[in-house]
Amino acid sequence: MSKTRTALTPRPAVQKMAPYSPPTGGRAGKLRLDFNENTVGCSPRVIEFLRERLTAEALPVYPEYVEAMSELSAFFGVATNEFLLTNGTDEAIQVMINTYVDDGDDVLLLHPSYAMYRFYAELAGGEVRQLAYRPADLSFPLEELLAAVRPGTRAILIANPNNPTGTGIDLAGIRRILEAAPNAAVLIDEAYFEFCDTTALGLIREYPNLFVSRTFSKVYGMAAMRCGCLFSCEENVRWMHKAQSPYSVNMLAALAARAAVRDGKYVANYVKEVLAARELACDGLKRLGIPHYPSQANFVLFHAGDRAIPIRDALREKGVLIRDRSYEIAGCVRVTIGTRVQIERFLTELEKLWTA
Ligand SMILES: Cc1ncc(COP(=O)(O)O)c(C=O)c1O
Repeated sequence: MSKTRTALTPRPAVQKMAPYSPPTGGRAGKLRLDFNENTVGCSPRVIEFLRERLTAEALPVYPEYVEAMSELSAFFGVATNEFLLTNGTDEAIQVMINTYVDDGDDVLLLHPSYAMYRFYAELAGGEVRQLAYRPADLSFPLEELLAAVRPGTRAILIANPNNPTGTGIDLAGIRRILEAAPNAAVLIDEAYFEFCDTTALGLIREYPNLFVSRTFSKVYGMAAMRCGCLFSCEENVRWMHKAQSPYSVNMLAALAARAAVRDGKYVANYVKEVLAARELACDGLKRLGIPHYPSQANFVLFHAGDRAIPIRDALREKGVLIRDRSYEIAGCVRVTIGTRVQIERFLTELEKLWTA
């Protein structure tokens, strides 16, 4: 007789977690306007650098980060002990939470925002409270957030500009949060910084509760590499270093990051193209009478009402991927902004569907 096998019971925190399953396949060959990636590719100099360095002798060796740390510190204008190299922003969030958030700790998030904040906060056993972006225009709820901070609040995670709303908070607002929550680790996730130019990075020496993250997944076109940086004051970085796995960033990612920051011209050109394409997208949506929210990033959230999911599905049939967000803001769909040519294709297909 066969024994009944029962799986092990996971920690209560894991049992309680909200599921998060982004689509992970079937995107090849389509116009990828669904994940806020770079829609063109990384700088050719990154590929050249990797080709030069990818040798049979390089792969058996555990990664060394000295050169990457030194070059990235010069690029970002911080000391090498004021940041961690991370396996994407995801690891930055995880390391910060694992360093500061314990079971039952109060964690403040905004809604809707990047799903991985809640994911790691819940995984760590934190008690998550979420405040809504202002319904009228999805602007940042600063006064509401300041009022919600408690003396025991342990972490506050903010994307600036925010995904998927595209709206942001200015430095004066960030300073008010940092001052109102001296006991909380405040993360300003600047994944889309290059499209808006507001950064809190210059404040890390002034506020010991400030953490800033950057990624190579967006403007740099290297999402597959999984590479990012987490900045904070020296002492925080020392603690977080202790809580980070020593080789979480692979050698190719560290090499790619070095080459990427050397090609500033590539990034500047891509940003310029995206900003022009964003204007085109907003004008096109307006022409079709489709309401949208103003964006400071490489995506635009628009209101397709009860046609959100049908429009997303019909565009997919035409080879154009966009992301439904109606499960968090009723009727809303998000389109990533690529080049003007790509956005023209999106608008042409959308117009056919919208006016049919
Ligand atoms: C606000 C925000 N932060 C971080 C990321 C992802 O970063 P990474 O690929 O560096 O983990 C995303 C991706 O969509 C995002 O929207």
